[in-house]
Amino acid sequence: MNIQTLLNKAIKTLDNSSGTSFRLDSEILLSEVIKKNRQYLILNSNEELKKENVKSFNYLVRRRKKGEPIAYLINKKEFWKQNFYINQNVLIPRPDTELLVEETLKLFNSNSKLNILDIGTGSGCILLSILKERRNFFGIGIDISKKAINVARFNAKMHQLSNRAKFYNSDVDKFLIGKYDLILSNPPYIRQQDLKCLEVDIKRFEPKLALDGGRDGFSEITKVISKTSMLLKKNGRFILEMGFGQKNRILNILRQNNFYINKVIKDYGKNDRCVISTKI
Ligand SMILES: C[S@@+](CC[C@H](N)C(=O)[O-])C[C@H]1O[C@@H](n2cnc3c(N)ncnc32)[C@H](O)[C@@H]1O
Repeated sequence: MNIQTLLNKAIKTLDNSSGTSFRLDSEILLSEVIKKNRQYLILNSNEELKKENVKSFNYLVRRRKKGEPIAYLINKKEFWKQNFYINQNVLIPRPDTELLVEETLKLFNSNSKLNILDIGTGSGCILLSILKERRNFFGIGIDISKKAINVARFNAKMHQLSNRAKFYNSDVDKFLIGKYDLILSNPPYIRQQDLKCLEVDIKRFEPKLALDGGRDGFSEITKVISKTSMLLKKNGRFILEMGFGQKNRILNILRQNNFYINKVIKDYGKNDRCVISTKI
């Protein structure tokens, strides 16, 4: 079967499933299977494909039809300026989370020497993106999921950052090592009762540990703030991602824990998405 015929068949198969980008999804999956870019598919649409490639592609299309996100099917996702290895043990990095990287780089220039902690590191995408941009920074990422830590370590190796990035499997509550100039976190912040309302792709495939913020959405956020107030140096910065409608309560908890609020930043959808504060 040639490229064009196979793609058309896949688009038809995906047509009545949840997503809308059937052509793009099909092209990404086929590019991955035959290890060529999408341009190649267009320029060589009559090329006959090997049987084993057709089989691997059809298998991925069947999984996509059931709602599995593309990032899990191709085991990668672009975040900031790099590709990260991703599997079902970690949250798929979101574009809004790049705000934490952007704000860190605005705050600290390349001459600064910084010790960073990333709480709930997942794939390690936040910490590793920052370390890639700043050669004098060192960092630790922690996560309650051992499997997530394995993914973060793999990414550190892939980006040649294992000498400056260490990853530990630990509950934030139990972590006691070090003092930091900067602490970052994108914790789970979705209310338990809202988990069932998430899109199928998210609720069926992304790890619950990465999403579940407890009964009111604040259980992990509260732990992260109280741990940060212990581990952050005086005048150290804290950048925290938050969910819709959580701003006021988070600002209160921060103030109660002796943080000065520097600013709240909106995401691309104009929702309050992260807060920058300083330990007084
Ligand atoms: C929203 S995900 C963020 C992942 C990654 N930092 C990112 O932004 O793509 C939250 C992460 O926190 C971890 N986590 C949840 N509860 C935790 C806890 N009590 N202590 C440490 N990590 C926790 C989850 O396993 C998950 O990897």
